[in-house]
Amino acid sequence: MSRFGKTLMASAISLTMASCASARADTPQPVKASENAAAVAAETTVPVEKATPAWAHNDPKMNAFIDNLIGQMTLQEKIGQLTLLTSDWESTGPTMRDSYKQDIAAGRVGAIFNAYTAKYTRELQQAAIEGTRLKIPLLFGYDVIHGHRTIFPISLGEAASWDMAAVEKSARVSAEEASAEGIHWTFSPMVDVSRDPRWGRISEGAGEDVYLGSKVAVARVHGYQGKDLAATDTVLATTKHYAAYGAAQAGRDYNTVDISERTLRDVYLPPFKATVDAGVATIMTSFNEYDGIPASGSKYLLTDVLRDKWGFDGFVVTDYTSINEMVPHGYSKDLAQAGEQAINAGVDMDMQGAVFMENLAKSVEEGRVSQATVDRAVRRVLEMKYRLGLFDDPYRYSNEAREKATLYKPEFLEAARDVARKSMVLLKNENNALPLAASAKSIALIGPLGDSKTDMIGSWSAAGDRQTRPITVLQGLKERAPKGTTVAYAKGASYDFADAGKTDGFAEALALASKSDVIIAAMGERWDMTGEAASRTSLDLPGNQQALLEQLVATGKPVILLLMSGRPNTVGWADQHVAAILEAWYPGTMAGKAVADVLFGDYNPSGKLPVTFPRTVGQVPLYYDQKNTGRPIELGEPGAKYVSRYLNTPNTPLYRFGYGLSYTSFSYSPVTLSAPSMGPKGAITASATITNTGKRAGEEVVQLYVRDLVGSVTRPVQELKGFEKIMLKPGESRSVSFTLRPADLAFTRADMSHGWEPGEFQLWIAPSSGAKASTPVTFTVTD
Ligand code: BGC
Repeated sequence: MSRFGKTLMASAISLTMASCASARADTPQPVKASENAAAVAAETTVPVEKATPAWAHNDPKMNAFIDNLIGQMTLQEKIGQLTLLTSDWESTGPTMRDSYKQDIAAGRVGAIFNAYTAKYTRELQQAAIEGTRLKIPLLFGYDVIHGHRTIFPISLGEAASWDMAAVEKSARVSAEEASAEGIHWTFSPMVDVSRDPRWGRISEGAGEDVYLGSKVAVARVHGYQGKDLAATDTVLATTKHYAAYGAAQAGRDYNTVDISERTLRDVYLPPFKATVDAGVATIMTSFNEYDGIPASGSKYLLTDVLRDKWGFDGFVVTDYTSINEMVPHGYSKDLAQAGEQAINAGVDMDMQGAVFMENLAKSVEEGRVSQATVDRAVRRVLEMKYRLGLFDDPYRYSNEAREKATLYKPEFLEAARDVARKSMVLLKNENNALPLAASAKSIALIGPLGDSKTDMIGSWSAAGDRQTRPITVLQGLKERAPKGTTVAYAKGASYDFADAGKTDGFAEALALASKSDVIIAAMGERWDMTGEAASRTSLDLPGNQQALLEQLVATGKPVILLLMSGRPNTVGWADQHVAAILEAWYPGTMAGKAVADVLFGDYNPSGKLPVTFPRTVGQVPLYYDQKNTGRPIELGEPGAKYVSRYLNTPNTPLYRFGYGLSYTSFSYSPVTLSAPSMGPKGAITASATITNTGKRAGEEVVQLYVRDLVGSVTRPVQELKGFEKIMLKPGESRSVSFTLRPADLAFTRADMSHGWEPGEFQLWIAPSSGAKASTPVTFTVTD
């Protein structure tokens, strides 16, 4: 649905709402919380270096300025600073509803989203500065998710690069472009851990893992915010959606979340905590409830954890109309109560619901919300405006000359191409079907994604141009194909659900296939089949693509499946029958170029899956760091009945988390440890030597996994605890080392304290989860 459509829906929602009325088994002595104080305070399984962000320094000049300003503000003006409203976008360009224009001029709104271009943001800013009594500048926010104008691969694809410099670069370029169009604030990164590929928003995050997800989240925050919020090419980042949105039951968007407190803390919260430690400026609440309380009304999440435990210093914005939604959730009897619950829980800014705007003054006057609570929220918002330098010059981001010089810079496009090829994951490559051989003189490109521009930039590519800029796969292959090699295209199949069973285009595609040397089947999902409100109950190739794929394979020609989508698909049949599979996600503006780089071998694929690919949707949720259960399948004889298994499908996934092939091969030496044990203040370094055993230079993502054998609560069978991406020339070897400290092994213990426990652990260094490249080594942690 377009943003405009969504806006209509949102007002419909608010209308409806308005009318609604310890001790572990193997160790006698558990760790005392006091001994582990640092870890308890950290409250996360992913240690991040805590650096006070440049913006968070205590600035007496700012404090005095804001005290003075707040002292002059009326209650209505204060509530205005807590109100965020949308701009609209029509084919003629950006527009603003008349009533919103009046709100701006009356100081009833402090922030606008979905407004950009230097000229337009300047115009709106002018209305705030020239029209209002106190001349408080507007803050402009926008969903800049994986690129602003120059679109990078979808977020899940970027995570598949396991290349934090690449992820940071994408965010940096996004900030440069967005800030040049007047934007001060992006609603990114989305850090929701997701273990359910039915959920369309899995495409927006970094996949299923806590550790990788936290690293990606931090890289994004650094990219957006840079070192200095006052620099005009940096933007405020927003970590969203707080919290546990990715755990929507049955993968249905906006659905109930019902997870344990332990799972919340150990799986869903750490990426949020990591970005708070990295200095993220704002946090967005989520639509879902946690433990019966909608996130936007959760004092536990917004105050007890975020402020009191983590010391978050920025401001909290709700998700779109999520205060209003507390009414249908059944948590608030009306909007007025919802607004009170939200601000008293710790929300600072209301996105699009106008609940604060319409109700908060009365709630304050009648004593249900204190002046101090409002002032605190206002202060947090004003501080960010101050830190951005908007009180010095409210127009500093709205500079048309800079805008012209910045958008689509060639170096940005080159960066997008580079990140795109780094994001691709080679899932199968039988008999080196890829890279394409020089003998392949005629290439048949077949499938609905082969010559599509609209799909290439995926969902949440807000200001991205879907119509003209994206380079299609066909264009990319044609430009790159060696002289004398032809590339011909037939769409052949459709990804539309309604086209399942049709065969209209098959004859043309098969005719082309039969006269070609190799077939590239560009298949997958339409761009809007993932993203918000895009859940599916099947992960199969939609439409009639599977049927055509089977007929293409039946020609006997080698078939390469170029898979493009925003979620893991169930491609078990393809895995059995095609020669090669390349997961290309939605690669962005430079899609065709990046795909050609990989297919022709100019770039050696190096991506690894950030998420498990199940064999069938019936296995979901399926993730690599599951628990062992009391009846693990390995304990039974093959075929044993009373073990944890299915009658009709293996337990194992089709492709594991961390998996991905290269055009070269790597070997792993046995792991060596610096010491067999470590004490509370100690460390252990694990090393392995990786060798490029093939004929081409290539990159490998070397992964460290750990298993905590016995705990005061059961522990996952494996957890990623480190990774490093290295480049090796043919024949070259390199030793890769990871240092672990007890705090790296922390989790939520039986008594709900956070910390590590002494005991025995296994560790291995491997090319993917589940793969034990050599025998795991054992170490102990002593207290
Ligand atoms: C989404 C957010 C997004 C917001 C503003 C919501 O529907 O859940 O992720 O930032 O809209 O566009």
